Amino acid sequence: MAKSVSDFVRVASINDIPEGKMKKVVAGSQQVLVVNVKGKYYAIGNVCTHLGGPLDKGILEGHEVECPLHRSHFDVTTGQVKRGPATRPELVYDVKIESGAILVRPKQ
Ligand code: FES
Repeated sequence: MAKSVSDFVRVASINDIPEGKMKKVVAGSQQVLVVNVKGKYYAIGNVCTHLGGPLDKGILEGHEVECPLHRSHFDVTTGQVKRGPATRPELVYDVKIESGAILVRPKQ
């Protein structure tokens, strides 16, 4: 049976992702980008909706991540495209912190 990704799953420790950094994690079968913006954690899909670029290999500036392939920008707080060529937003995940662990689940 496929592992459900509707529940929160532990993906990292808060120590893994200092302020201003991001990290690729896996939740179920999905690649997720977890980002620390000014001490608050956000999570969106890690695979660029344009042609599948790895967002964790891109550049984080404030709350926008730039895809390394064709430089689309996504807002990590909303998943929205801020600059093309991508046109479709990233999936957004709920994030919670428990005992120093970061947990995510697809936004419901
Ligand atoms: S794959 Fe990300 S902008 Fe093209």
